[in-house]
Amino acid sequence: MIINRMLEARARLGEHCFIRDNGFARIQGLPGSHCVTAGQDVNGEDTSLMVVASIEGYAIECESLTRKFGNFTAVNSINLKIKRGELFGFLGPNGAGKTTTIKVLTTLLTPTVGRASIASFDVIKDAAQVRSRIGVVPQEFALFGELTAMENLWYIGTLFGMGKDEMRHRSEELLKTVGLFDKKDVQAEGFSGGMKQRLSVAAGLLHMPEILFMDEPTTGLDPQSRIALRDLTRSLNESGITIVYTTHDMEEADKLCHRIAIMDHGKIIAEDTPEMLKHRYGGSHRIRIEFSGSNQYNASILAELKKLTGASNVHTSTNNEGAVIDLSVEHAGCELVTEVAGFLDKKKIKVIDVKSVEPSLEDVFINLTKDDVNI
Ligand SMILES: Nc1ncnc2c1ncn2[C@@H]1O[C@H](COP(=O)(O)OP(=O)(O)OP(=O)(O)O)[C@@H](O)[C@H]1O
Ligand SMILES: [Mg+2]
Repeated sequence: MIINRMLEARARLGEHCFIRDNGFARIQGLPGSHCVTAGQDVNGEDTSLMVVASIEGYAIECESLTRKFGNFTAVNSINLKIKRGELFGFLGPNGAGKTTTIKVLTTLLTPTVGRASIASFDVIKDAAQVRSRIGVVPQEFALFGELTAMENLWYIGTLFGMGKDEMRHRSEELLKTVGLFDKKDVQAEGFSGGMKQRLSVAAGLLHMPEILFMDEPTTGLDPQSRIALRDLTRSLNESGITIVYTTHDMEEADKLCHRIAIMDHGKIIAEDTPEMLKHRYGGSHRIRIEFSGSNQYNASILAELKKLTGASNVHTSTNNEGAVIDLSVEHAGCELVTEVAGFLDKKKIKVIDVKSVEPSLEDVFINLTKDDVNI
């Protein structure tokens, strides 16, 4: 499947390549593409084609997109453009409007105001075209527990009108990709959370979507399953699939996403690459001093540290281990860390760590959404 997608991605760039019939049919249907040759290879299996025109337009576009539930505005006039091939993150506190936006983009809900399009197809007027191009891994497990992994995929394949041979081929291929082939005949209700998520990914990919929406796919998974699903997501994206990914795990979003939109109260309040978000909204670089147990510093030590580092701000707090001092500095380089450690050593103040702390995506998230309290 991944190889197939890679061929497709290459074809989009105008290269001559071989691809299976189903992929060929889909490429022919893509807006902006133009196939100039077609034929079969020596095995009579693959089709050779050349896509000459690059594909224009965005994978996803929203213009003043609004969704209300009664008087409540869950999605409030959002504007968004997601490029083809992007792995785009959607972050925001509980209730920010992420899932509602995804539901509108995947035709499960209609917009109240504004418009949205997927691969240049309008989510209302061209809903069938949109559905044939998207896959969804929903926030809640939506497959049938009483069906086996394979039966679930066959059920979905039938809904998409796939032929038996294609369905069998794709299902087996996908169950191998998500590491569930040995469980193909096991009922899904006996699956762990991670296995259910991987089956959902396989179901979302069955009809070879161009765009995959993954709504909190790693929530509740153990670290190993999270890493496995993250790696799978990355490789799907590298094979040419545009991915919209929501998560509450900031480190995951930082590692995975090319660009990120942060939503709050139905609005997009920031949108950029993780690096730029950290640069703009992450706050200052810090030198952090961690103590074991209660603090061993006093006001004059704090004043000396401030002077030594040129810190614009000194913040004291506690963590699980004990007291913490954060010094906001221009550049928290190695030299400054060594100087601070040397100073504390000279004063015979015992610390467990002195380190430089870069702004993180979590800092960005907290700075931008700090007025929200979600308990
Ligand atoms: N069918 C509905 N009827 C009424 N209100 C709804 C409906 N669906 C969602 N909402 C409300 O819309 C707001 C946005 O919900 P949504 O599920 O989009 O948030 P979210 O950002 O996905 O949150 P989470 O991180 O918790 O998944 C919430 O206040 C929610 O209660
Ligand atoms: Mg949600």
